[in-house]
This record gives sequence, C-alpha cells and structure tokens, in this order.
Amino acid sequence: MEKLKYALIGAGGNAEKKHIHGYKALPDVDVVAICDVDVGKASAMAARHQVERVYSDYKDMIERERPDIVSVVTPNFLHAEITEYALAQGVNVHCEKPLSLNADEARRILAAQERSGKRVMIGLNNRFTNEAVYLKKWIDDGRLGHIYSAKAGWVRRAGIPGRGTWFTDKSRAGGGVLIDLGAHYLDLALYLMGRPKVTYAAGRIHQNFVHTTTRNRNGYTGIEGGLFDVEDAADGYLGIQGGASLALDFSWASNIEEDRFYVELLGTKGGASLVNGTLKLFGEHEGVCLDLTPKLKLNPNLRFANEFRHFADGVRDTEQALIAPAEDGVYFAEIVDAFYESAASGAPVMLASAASPAGVR
Ligand SMILES: NC(=O)c1ccc[n+]([C@@H]2O[C@H](COP(=O)([O-])OP(=O)(O)OC[C@H]3O[C@@H](n4cnc5c(N)ncnc54)[C@H](O)[C@@H]3O)[C@@H](O)[C@H]2O)c1
Repeated sequence: MEKLKYALIGAGGNAEKKHIHGYKALPDVDVVAICDVDVGKASAMAARHQVERVYSDYKDMIERERPDIVSVVTPNFLHAEITEYALAQGVNVHCEKPLSLNADEARRILAAQERSGKRVMIGLNNRFTNEAVYLKKWIDDGRLGHIYSAKAGWVRRAGIPGRGTWFTDKSRAGGGVLIDLGAHYLDLALYLMGRPKVTYAAGRIHQNFVHTTTRNRNGYTGIEGGLFDVEDAADGYLGIQGGASLALDFSWASNIEEDRFYVELLGTKGGASLVNGTLKLFGEHEGVCLDLTPKLKLNPNLRFANEFRHFADGVRDTEQALIAPAEDGVYFAEIVDAFYESAASGAPVMLASAASPAGVR
C-alpha cells in the first residue's frame, strides 16, 4: 500500500501535544514537512521528530510537497483561509477546533469541501476518548431512551490560556472560553445527543479576570499589554426541539474549589455522567436503582490513536463516514453565534432554520 504524505501547518503547543505524535505513529503515513511562520519553531519540532523539511509559508509547502493530508493547527482566525486553500489544491484537511471563527466561515469551508471532493475533519479529540466512544454507542443503542435534559461545562479556577495572545483577541479567536472549551464539551454533549435541532440560545458572558495575573494557565506564555476583549466565563441555556434543554457553564477563571469538565445526560430510560474523564451510567433493574461504572481506564487510552487512524482511513476510503465532519463545525458555529448574539442583546435568540442536524459525510 502506498503511504499517505502528511504535512503539518502550525508548530505550536497543540501540534506538539497531538498532531505530530498522532501522524508519526501511523505506519502507512509519511510525515514529510512542517510549516510555521516562526521557522525556528518548525525547525525545532522537525529536529525533535525526525521530519526532513521545514517551511515558513504554507502555500509554498503545499505546492512543493503535494501532501495527501495537512493538519491546520494555527490560531483560529487562520483555519478557514488555510483550509480553503488546501482543499482548492486537492489536499485533505485535519483542522483543529473550532473549525472557524463563526458560521459564515464554516459554511465557506463546507462549500470549498464540496467543490474539491476532498475531506475535512475537525480535531475534536474528546469525541474519540474510550469513554465518549462507549457512551455514544450506549446512547445509540437506545439505553438512555429520550434525552430530555443535559448539562455541559468546563469550569477552571485558573486556566486563562495565552493572556494577551491570539487566544484573548476576539478578532483572532472568535470568542473566549465558550468557543475555546465549548468546542470540546458543548460539542461533546450535542454530539452524544445526536446533534439535536437547537431552537433557541439564551446566554450570558462575563469578563471579571482580565486584570488579574493569578488566573493564567500554567504552560501558556502571555503577552504583556496584549488585547483581552473576550469573555472569561459563559453560562446559559439552549432550548432543543421536542422540549429538551441543555445548560452550559464554562469558565477560564472562577472562584470554585476544583476544575471540572463534564457532560451529564438525563434520559427517560437512563442517565449518564462523564465527569473529569470518568463515565458513570445510571438506571434501574428489576425495581432497583442501579449504577454502572465501565472500567475503560483499564483499556489502552486510544484517544489520539483513534482520531488520527480514523482520518487517515477516511482519506483512503471516502465512503467511510467521519466522526467529526466539517458539517458539525457549521452546526456548532451557528449555535455559538446565536449564544453570543443573545449575550450581546440580553434576550434569547431563535435559531429558525439553523442548527438542524447535518448530514454525515
Ligand atoms: N484539540 C485540542 O485539544 C486543542 C488543544 C489546544 C489547542 N487547540 C487548537 O489548536 C490550534 C492551535 O492552538 P495552540 O495552542 O497550538 O496555539 P499556539 O499559539 O501554541 O500555536 C499556533 C502556531 O501557529 C503558528 N502560525 C501562526 N500563523 C501561521 C501561518 N500563517 N502559517 C503557519 N503557522 C502559523 C504560530 O507561529 C504558532 O507556532 C487552535 O485552533 C486551538 O484552538 C486544540
């Protein structure tokens, strides 16, 4: 079998943590090049991972290397531009979350994907954990019944990433904690619920920790005096067709005892909680309430392996549905846009025809 040629765009923190390891570990993929506008970063990463060539311009890299797949692991505002360019050049794209700054950009990516016949997958690694894979099947097998109520959140006590960098600049990030951590756990709740049609969003955003430095996240360097015009907390509510509800709670900084990331689902036949990575299932059997704790941590953690293997397989076999297709990026962005609009106006925002379940590609 001929190997797939792979190249990485953006050699920052997440590329080091996820993408370079993920693709290097696949025996049928050749990692041929790394690109970063900061060519020193690209060179250092290439040396650490034995990658032959480095570039400072992604267009130049795509033209010379003609890869089958690129990862886009740049700041959010470049996702649409780079993804559209790569697709137009006939390259499949593994783009980090969030797919785009907003729904307009996400729809442009979808149109570019349709024109190119190539594929886009979003780097939604939380859909690929052992726990999420198990819970998704549990739900799809009907074990929760109708999910009528859900809660999703990621609350941190001191977890502001890159203060003053692109992370806290709305024009480059698209928003604050909601678009950053919501792209993980709001996304996961909606995915587990089967991408229900959201009928309205009612949200509030908060900005209370802009001037403190005690709430910065370890491991992220900031820029003194850089812009911070996004929310550090967001909470609210999504109304879902059929009477269901989804309550949201996200913060980069807040006065809580402990950080917590979670999805809690209440169904007519059973419930589920995925809290800080541990899955528990609730129900009843023969008149007795029953809790189940699947021991998934005893299995190898396949989170990243699942994601990278899945996309490489999806590039080889285009009939195989993708777990995190570009369509879901449009769905998510429409909901987030409505949430921010609601926060700005102080009133719920209806999603008339938008946010309907997307077709799986
Ligand atoms: N899935 C996850 O768990 C996860 C975790 C962290 C970050 N992310 C996402 O990954 C993306 C990158 O985040 P990060 O934390 O690695 O940020 P980062 O700032 O550490 O890295 C971004 C890199 O992109 C480079 N870059 C900027 N413009 C470029 C261009 N035109 N061409 C090539 N390279 C360019 C920068 O020099 C930098 O090295 C973001 O979209 C973020 O939301 C996802």
